[in-house]
Amino acid sequence: MPCVNHTTPRRYAIVGTGSRARMYTRALTGTHRDRGRLVALCDTNSTRMAVHNRIVTDAGLDAVPTYSPDDFVRMLKEESVDEVIVCTVDRTHADYVVAALDAGLDAITEKPMTADLEGLRRINEAQARTGGRVTVGFNYRYNPVHRQLRDLISSGVIGEVGSVHFEWLLDLRHGADYFRRWHRDKNQSGGLLVHKASHHFDLVNWWIGARPTDVFASGRLFFYGDDNGRRHGLAADYERGHGEDAAQSDPFALHMDDSADLRALYLDAEHEDGYRRDLNVFGPGITIEDDMSVLVGYDTGARLTYHLVAYAPWEGYRIAITGSRGRLELDMTEFEYTSPDQDETTPVRGMPAPKEHTSARLWLRRHWQPPEEIPVAVGEGTHGGGDQLMLDSLFGGEDDGIRPDHSDGGNALLTGLAANASIASGGPVRVADLLGGS
Ligand SMILES: NC(=O)c1ccc[n+]([C@@H]2O[C@H](COP(=O)([O-])OP(=O)(O)OC[C@H]3O[C@@H](n4cnc5c(N)ncnc54)[C@H](O)[C@@H]3O)[C@@H](O)[C@H]2O)c1
Repeated sequence: MPCVNHTTPRRYAIVGTGSRARMYTRALTGTHRDRGRLVALCDTNSTRMAVHNRIVTDAGLDAVPTYSPDDFVRMLKEESVDEVIVCTVDRTHADYVVAALDAGLDAITEKPMTADLEGLRRINEAQARTGGRVTVGFNYRYNPVHRQLRDLISSGVIGEVGSVHFEWLLDLRHGADYFRRWHRDKNQSGGLLVHKASHHFDLVNWWIGARPTDVFASGRLFFYGDDNGRRHGLAADYERGHGEDAAQSDPFALHMDDSADLRALYLDAEHEDGYRRDLNVFGPGITIEDDMSVLVGYDTGARLTYHLVAYAPWEGYRIAITGSRGRLELDMTEFEYTSPDQDETTPVRGMPAPKEHTSARLWLRRHWQPPEEIPVAVGEGTHGGGDQLMLDSLFGGEDDGIRPDHSDGGNALLTGLAANASIASGGPVRVADLLGGS
């Protein structure tokens, strides 16, 4: 269904009022308020909903009604919701997407579309049953550099794509952050091959116009966790960053007291649900990997070699796409290096700083010709400008043809789920087998 301009603003409810959801709350009460209205909030935690309502009232609007998850369906009706925005813990996305579709509504869900096969089946069935629109928040598609790469590939300048080489590095702040809270539990997040790499697998599918068919992967927890911390001489003896002396000198600890935002959203909300945002990354109980390599075969015959590490000294990615007429190479540096200190670039100890100095270089290497560096326009704002452009597209903009739907969400997810299955079995996995096909 194409995205159209609405004369009366569309009515949105947000479920999952944590950190990411603030982008949507701010957009609907600020930059995009003429295109969409925030009419309700839903979360298990009322303190976090109150933080979002402060964003609403600070924008000069009336606080919106808040609902607990048990009243989600009632909320949709009572508040005449048109579309739901799902920003909860990954494992729960499918519940809300399916409930919204079954109520006759559309849903925008943060990535990954869901965290397991059962959720994927339920979403696909509900979408087929209702015809509702599901949009997945793959903001990286909207990064201008990534669009430029897609346009170049589509123009045929490197011919038919044979191979993609893709390395993604998460640094010691951003990478560590996945090991402090619910992401560290594979049942909640699907692990980084689902939670994080779904962005990257979606980009590859979109760039080369292909779907994954075969996956072989290997991965392990090499750096974080109690055993590794001891083995590498990095472990410090504390349970969490907040209120423990031993955490003070640990560059891996998150100090929520440094940030009014973190205090309000998490520390002050703990009494309701015990959600601790700042666990020791070298503590016990981590069930996800921090180092993963994946080989993917596609229905076009193309192959991907992918590697994700979550403990690198710098943050960014390198991509090389080789075709029958040449090769494109993209180097993106998001953070040149990570400082352990509190300074103006990292005011909150332990938190990744905003990526304001991303640099990009793109080369075209045609067969038999010298390399040509292609000028690139790095976008401004979060995720290389992708967030702002995605919001423009989601909230009433013209259909730009790149809005990711449930098929795109499913294809990215299936690559990660197949990779997880391959890590578990030690053998290659056919995507069709995961879906129960032949
Ligand atoms: N596209 C991106 O770049 C990007 C960036 C960050 C996060 N995200 C996604 O956004 C989502 C939220 O991440 P976050 O960092 O904001 O996490 P968060 O922990 O800050 O927020 C999650 C919220 O969900 C609530 N919640 C948990 N279980 C719930 C349930 N059953 N019903 C209702 N609410 C429930 C929690 O109370 C919390 O308020 C994740 O899916 C994540 O992958 C996407």
